Amino acid sequence: MFRIAPSILSADFARLGEEVRDVVASGADWIHFDVMDNHYVPNLTVGPLVCEAIRPHTSAPIDVHLMVKPVDRIIPDFARAGANVITFHPEASDHVDRSLALIREHGCQAGLVFNPATPLHHLDHVMERIDVVLLMSVNPGFGGQKFIPGTLAKLRETRARLDAYERESGRHILLEVDGGVKVDNIGEIARAGADTFVAGSAVFGAASPTDPHRYDSVIAAL
Ligand code: DX5
Ligand code: ZN
Repeated sequence: MFRIAPSILSADFARLGEEVRDVVASGADWIHFDVMDNHYVPNLTVGPLVCEAIRPHTSAPIDVHLMVKPVDRIIPDFARAGANVITFHPEASDHVDRSLALIREHGCQAGLVFNPATPLHHLDHVMERIDVVLLMSVNPGFGGQKFIPGTLAKLRETRARLDAYERESGRHILLEVDGGVKVDNIGEIARAGADTFVAGSAVFGAASPTDPHRYDSVIAAL
């Protein structure tokens, strides 16, 4: 089963609640929520207050992608704000195992995010703490960048690793991809092993010409 997770980074922030309702009504499965701190990444976005503000607008899972350092002190705030999934970058946490455990203790699904140059060995020893692996297919910080082709080989390697883990443990871990996902490349990204697709500019840049509140055609095409 595939999931489409529109990134609200490319939405109209002046009418975020409506944008969230519109993409979910148009077929989105998750809402991807990009948190940037102008420290770990060179951009500044939104925090738990905004997550809390959109929570009543949808029952779809909110997928919080933390691009912040440090990680731990913001986790409980996002859990209280209604996040369902919380992912972070291993380089941004001094104690990856502890951060993963903290996310689950607060009732959320936990995941690690891999930048294009971050090796997969960060998965070693923590697989049982992970519900989602998120591979970045751009360098984090901005929407609207071009998909880095080397991600396809990394996706295949990750897929093999997660499949092997599932055979031995019976646990299914989601494989999400983030950055430059478009209608014309999502097929090969899926064939490389991803099952959950973040798409920001592709979705919010493609409202129906006749109804600016509908994103059906692009979400269906994805
Ligand atoms: C980038 C963010 C992405 C971004 C994706 O740092 O993590 O979620 O919004 O945007 P597109 O789909 O436009 O590349
Ligand atoms: Zn993201």
